[in-house]
Amino acid sequence: MAPVGGFAVIGAGSDFKGKITVSVLITCIVAASSGLIFGYDIGISGGVTTMVPFLQKFFPSILRKAAEAKTNMYCVYDSQVLTSFTSSLYIAGLAASLVASRLAATLGRKNTMVLGGCTFLVGAAINGGAANIAMLILGRILLGFGVGFTNQATPVYLSEVAPPRWRGAFNTGFQFFIGIGVVAANCINYGTAKHSWGWRLSLGLAIVPAAIMTIGALLISDTPSSLVERGKLAQAKKSLAKVRGKGTDVEPELADLIKSCEIAKAANQEPFVTIFERQYRPHLVMAVAIPFFQQVTGINIIAFYAPVLFQSVGFGSDSALIASIILGVVNLGSILVSTFVVDRYGRRFLFILGGIQMFVCQVAVACVLEATTGVSGTKHISKSYAILVLVLMCIYAAGFGWSWGPLSWLIPSEIFPMKIRPTGQSISVAVNLATTFVLSQTFLTMLCHFKFGTFLFYAGWIAVMTIFVTFFLPETKGIPLDSMYTVWEQHWYWCRFVQKQPSQNLYDGN
Ligand code: BGC
Repeated sequence: MAPVGGFAVIGAGSDFKGKITVSVLITCIVAASSGLIFGYDIGISGGVTTMVPFLQKFFPSILRKAAEAKTNMYCVYDSQVLTSFTSSLYIAGLAASLVASRLAATLGRKNTMVLGGCTFLVGAAINGGAANIAMLILGRILLGFGVGFTNQATPVYLSEVAPPRWRGAFNTGFQFFIGIGVVAANCINYGTAKHSWGWRLSLGLAIVPAAIMTIGALLISDTPSSLVERGKLAQAKKSLAKVRGKGTDVEPELADLIKSCEIAKAANQEPFVTIFERQYRPHLVMAVAIPFFQQVTGINIIAFYAPVLFQSVGFGSDSALIASIILGVVNLGSILVSTFVVDRYGRRFLFILGGIQMFVCQVAVACVLEATTGVSGTKHISKSYAILVLVLMCIYAAGFGWSWGPLSWLIPSEIFPMKIRPTGQSISVAVNLATTFVLSQTFLTMLCHFKFGTFLFYAGWIAVMTIFVTFFLPETKGIPLDSMYTVWEQHWYWCRFVQKQPSQNLYDGN
């Protein structure tokens, strides 16, 4: 029987494009490597902003404040100036992601990725050579533009190129590369932290992942949908033949894409207007809710807090970094689990499993901290309790890694019809970055005031999102993009939005 809110719809549309070929595999791995730059930045900035020579050069007042604030472990790192430095990337990324939808439609997904990589590369070079705070901020803004462009274009690229039956698996590649970027950055920080110029190397080395993904993006061809959309039919046919493999008759698929595109073009409406139509309400709600919920799982907070916690319980700065590397590796392994499970058991299964797991861990961490450090946070946790917290955080990171991590990129990229797909993904990336910004800006103050209660705050959100998914997210596994409308039509709640306008062609396009 179909679960509440989810319907296992058997692929209603075309059944071509089913095979995994070597070409589609390589193309998608290369495209997914765009996640490296986002991951590298997430991993590097937390570490760099705790490096004393970096703070001495750019934020000396923070060092003075940190020296005075040793009384409560929850408040040591509470500094708005520093968080606003980190967050400047998110604001720039937010702006770029909105522009990116137009770029992805006119220049194509591939070129948007190349542009993102180049912008990030320039930003990294400026940051590595920064002589003053203006250079630092300029560099971060460029990094933000880079992330905004690539995070918008890559998930769409992957969903459009992957064989529908394995779309979930291919799409998890993006989160996997984000994870690799995070772990690589943590290791680099570990090595550079001991040197006075270490921060420069950490920031400057961001050119490496940027160069890798830019060269990669230059080598792959754009998605057949995007090429058709831009009237490049001969290229679209070539691209299709390449990803579907030798000997495959790509004509039927191409014809379908052309038909979808013509209908979409006939509507000739501004996508940012179209997306607000009632018939696209379910899609829009998901494009906003999914990335918002991803952030209020508290993932970035846990990632940030793990080394701080371990340092403040006397593990020393090396062990703190090792703790975050352990978390990162667990996260990577769990993304791979997602890759193998997401197209077999579905997105909902993983969302619900991961949700329950993360909820239990957050509550348990809050309880352990309450019992061991008290409200003042001044009591030291014993080593065994600190290990318990690390284990709980690992279970939490695994839960995130096979659910909200990869799936928050997958869902928005697969639910929209072609004409508003880039727009939907843009909104989703913008919400992701905006929420990250607000949370990182408020987290330290919140931690300082709510203490261990902060973890209960996130646990509450995890409960809400798990219930939301159970009732409102339809199962999308295996459905070709051009048949995706069926999942809404058959949904107990969303059907009222999509079925009421039979005269219109609601889902015109792959
Ligand atoms: C999230 C980031 C997070 C990262 C962790 C991404 O999917 O959007 O905010 O830091 O996963 O690996």
